[in-house]
This record gives sequence, C-alpha cells and structure tokens, in this order.
Amino acid sequence: MNEFTFLKDKLVLVTGVSSTDLRYKNIGQALAELLARNGSQVIAVSRDLEKCEKAISHLKEEGLSIDSKQCDITDYSQVESLFNWIKETYGCLNYLINNAGTEGKLEPLDELSLDNIDTVIATNGKGTLYCLKEAIKLMKDRLKENNKEDCSIINISSIAAEIGMPNTSVYAYAKAGIASIGRVATIELNEYALKTNTSPIRVNTILPGVIRTPMHGRFLDDNGLEGIPPSESTSPEELAKCIITRLNEKFLMGSVSIIDGGYTAQ
Ligand SMILES: NC(=O)c1ccc[n+]([C@@H]2O[C@H](COP(=O)([O-])OP(=O)(O)OC[C@H]3O[C@@H](n4cnc5c(N)ncnc54)[C@H](OP(=O)(O)O)[C@@H]3O)[C@@H](O)[C@H]2O)c1
Repeated sequence: MNEFTFLKDKLVLVTGVSSTDLRYKNIGQALAELLARNGSQVIAVSRDLEKCEKAISHLKEEGLSIDSKQCDITDYSQVESLFNWIKETYGCLNYLINNAGTEGKLEPLDELSLDNIDTVIATNGKGTLYCLKEAIKLMKDRLKENNKEDCSIINISSIAAEIGMPNTSVYAYAKAGIASIGRVATIELNEYALKTNTSPIRVNTILPGVIRTPMHGRFLDDNGLEGIPPSESTSPEELAKCIITRLNEKFLMGSVSIIDGGYTAQ
C-alpha cells in the first residue's frame, strides 16, 4: 500500500517553494511535488511569485492541484492576508509545513552585521511564529465545525540548533527557538483538544542535516563542506519523504527529530 494515501484531498500549505538555483531543487519544491503527486491540494509560497510559479509549473501542467502565492513571512500583514485568502477560498487547512528559511550571511560573531541579525531572526524566528499563529487559528476554527479534522504542523529547524558550526550564530539561535516553540504549542494544543473534545493539532520539529539544495550550495561555497561523506548528505526528495510521513503520525506531538544521515551522531 502507498504510505502517502492519507494525503489525498488534504489542504496543505508549504512555505519556501521556489526555484533559485538550477543546479539544485529546494526542500519546498520537493515537498510540494510529493504532496501534489499524492492528491493533496497544495498552496506553495515564496516571496517571489515568479520563482514560486517556476518551481511548480511542471506540476500545474500535469493538472495537479497546486496554487502559487506570494508572501514574505517576515511581514505579519502579508501572512495574515495569505491565511485570510486560504480561509475564504478553502475554509480550512489540514497541514502546514513551515519550511521557508534563510542562513543569512555567514559571519563570525564579532563581525555580525545588524541587518543580517534582523533578517535571519525575522525569517526563521518571527516568520515561522507568524505562520504558526495564523495556522492554529484557522485549524481551531475548522475543528469547531468538524471535531475530528486531521491537523498537523511541521516546523523545519536545522542541526545548527544542536551543534556549533562556525559563522552560523544567528541562524543557530533562531533555529533553536523553533524547537522550543513546538513544545509550547503542543502543551497548549493538547489542553485545547481536551477542553473542546477535538482532535489535537500536532506540532513537530525536524532538524535536517546536509540536504543538497541551493542553500547547501551556498554553504558549500562559503564554508568548505566539500569533505562531507555522501552518506551524510541527501537529496531534498529523500528528506521530503521523511517529513511528510511524520505529518500522519497521530502520536507524534512536540517531537524534535534530527534527520541527518548520522552527521551529528558521533
Ligand atoms: N539545505 C540544507 O542543508 C538545510 C539543512 C537544515 C535545515 N534547512 C532548512 O530547510 C529549509 C529549506 O531550506 P532549503 O535548503 O530548501 O533553502 P533554500 O534553497 O534557500 O530555499 C529557501 C526558501 O525559503 C524562501 N524564503 C526565504 N525567505 C523567505 C521569506 N521571508 N518569506 C517567504 N519565503 C522565504 C525562499 O524563496 P524566495 O527567495 O523566493 O522567497 C526559498 O524558497 C530552511 O528553513 C532551512 O533553514 C536546510
């Protein structure tokens, strides 16, 4: 049996879907592709509508159900408008994959530029939080109408939250916060589910290791990661399978999973 049959007819929002570097697919693209090919209605988001459309055009040509939307997740009013549009258009949201992120400029701590600090925290920290806030509101509204609706959120952090890597201080700081938010959300949402006799909205965090995407390409150039053994890096498609499987795990709540081919195991 196909392990992804649960995706059929689910409404899924994926942030960070765009084509930025023709050498590599990004994680959002791989997620959107797997979701759409398994029958989900997908909403793909990036700051740049043209790049987002380019990333999913082949899926649209195949007749799959996928929309592209522009949204800068660092701007709360844009996030609010996106979720208002989802509510008006579809009335619900089953799954959110909070994937958009940026590594910013790779700078040592004592040379950090202030605009780099602001951008990296605004994108990975605030942007994730804004989408989480709006998604939970929409999911709770839906659960009032159907108390068994299946709702699940995955936030994408990084192994940078767990291990020190040079020149990644702001990124590591923001990504570490994402795991904490997931735990708090889980406690709040489980209490809500008990009080309202509804299915719990599950929130989990994934810490990917080295994934061969445009972001990884930039790290390679700047951080000299060429020495990583092939077993300790993987494709965005392989990671997408691991992420999407977790959307359907009913007992998985508040978890923080490292998926890195053993990179941090030693
Ligand atoms: N690749 C890795 O090795 C790795 C490892 C650990 C964790 N991660 C995490 O996995 C996620 C995806 O990474 P990736 O490797 O696919 O990176 P990527 O190739 O750089 O893609 C990042 C995506 O985020 C979007 N984005 C950036 N800022 C945004 C904003 N303010 N609002 C909306 N969208 C925004 C970008 O699109 P636009 O530029 O068009 O907005 C792009 O689609 C990130 O959160 C990253 O931190 C990656």
